[in-house]
Amino acid sequence: MAQPDTHENTPINPLRLNDDTRLPRIAGPSGLVIFGVTGDLARKKLLPALYDLANRGLLPAGFTLIGFGRREWSKQDFEGYVREAVEKSARTRFNDNVWERLAEGMHFVQGAFDHDEAFDSLAQLTREMDATRGTAGNWAYYLSVPPEYFSDVVNQLDRTGMATPSEDQWRRVVIEKPFGHDAASARELNEVVNQVFPESSVFRIDHYLGKETVQNILALRFANQMFEPIWNANYIDHVQITMAEEIGLGGRAGYYDGIGAARDVIQNHLMQLLALIAMEEPASFSPRQLKAEKIKVLRATYPVGPFDRTTARGQYTAGWQGSTKVLGLREEEGFDPASTTETFAACTLQINSRRWAGVPFYLRTGKRLGRRVTEIALVLKRPPYQPFQARQTQSMTNNAVVLRIQPDEGVLMRFGSKVPGSTLEVRDVNMNFSYSEAFTEKSPEAYERLILDALLDESSLFPTNEEVEYSWDILDPILNYWADNGQPEEYEAGTWGPPSADRMLAAEGRVWRRP
Ligand code: BG6
Repeated sequence: MAQPDTHENTPINPLRLNDDTRLPRIAGPSGLVIFGVTGDLARKKLLPALYDLANRGLLPAGFTLIGFGRREWSKQDFEGYVREAVEKSARTRFNDNVWERLAEGMHFVQGAFDHDEAFDSLAQLTREMDATRGTAGNWAYYLSVPPEYFSDVVNQLDRTGMATPSEDQWRRVVIEKPFGHDAASARELNEVVNQVFPESSVFRIDHYLGKETVQNILALRFANQMFEPIWNANYIDHVQITMAEEIGLGGRAGYYDGIGAARDVIQNHLMQLLALIAMEEPASFSPRQLKAEKIKVLRATYPVGPFDRTTARGQYTAGWQGSTKVLGLREEEGFDPASTTETFAACTLQINSRRWAGVPFYLRTGKRLGRRVTEIALVLKRPPYQPFQARQTQSMTNNAVVLRIQPDEGVLMRFGSKVPGSTLEVRDVNMNFSYSEAFTEKSPEAYERLILDALLDESSLFPTNEEVEYSWDILDPILNYWADNGQPEEYEAGTWGPPSADRMLAAEGRVWRRP
């Protein structure tokens, strides 16, 4: 049954912002079981990330990977499947020796989530691996499966003893989103999982937190002196958080139809970005302190109404993405031709705190937009007085600090500068810090970082049950309003979303940045 919750106070510093050894951390003896190993995520991200970790020497010698699925695969079939995924999508170069060693520890167990015998065999196999490969009873179970199966899998793990470690061993569960479709279902899911695994053994993946540039938000804010004085309602006019994608939803109908953009990314990725941008300085970067600050800010965040004016949602229709003609959502394979699922969502949030009172946070995301970009822009107020004639500053806009999460990772500052010449005219210029120019080190993929952290019991970069629940609490009123009020507005693929998104900001005398 449930293990005791022990590591709440572990004084580790997983963000390693003040790690003086700079030695890479290597996972101790352990194994990983992936449920849903034949899915897209495993093929494109998880398996390549595991290989990259092995290639960087960060997995233990006897590391063992067990795939669980319905296919009738032998060990060789599974190895072939993993190899193909690795060759196609790994970040680091293929190395035969690394592959051979990793492949030795690969196994496949055939079965469905309601097959007791399959889970009995899995339990048996993990015990064998403990004895022969030195996995030492330390197992992580990766649930890359839809949430309706969470309960079956964790109960099977419980029934077969796989959730319960002996002394000096650990058992952890790593869970992929979606964590429910509203606050109530998220709470139910958390209850199901927490009945078997204590919160300290649950690692919920929000892959945005694994991105180097997202972690840099903490470095930028808390390692520097120059930003903090302006990081508040005295100087900031509003904040824009944008996650724009060029890709459409072909091939993802099963997951996305009926879910929509707000549930898919605002509830998790964008809320986490908001929490990191807006939270107070944590006492340390221990999981406990970080969580305390994130929760404080999420609890103080609320959606601003009236929602017909302060939110926008859209669905893409056919159009051009660069020089490629693309389909509209309702023509994409598998989507209901009458689908009302939104592929663009925007909303206005405010935070009840001294730091942020009165500063709107505008969040937007969409598929098939003009360009792939994720960024956070803090747009400053105008100076209280400008000793210029209006025409001298007419082409200047508000100062801004922009954190570019991807691509072209970096930080940009926009301010006014004199145009060279004999007249006095001030125009916007950009000062640009680019990761790729400033550093030679390449950033690891988010999943490399997160899988390694889960094996190392470093939970700072994983949202807790409460963070997930509070994020849903913020979003639920908007989702309910949308459910009761008509359809998403159409927007042409390759544009920047529906006209209502522009109206939403124009009504407050503001405009979206064109990143
Ligand atoms: C996922 C969403 O969480 O993030 C996808 O489910 C989205 O819809 C993806 O495309 C984007 O991730 P990234 O890392 O490419 O920005």
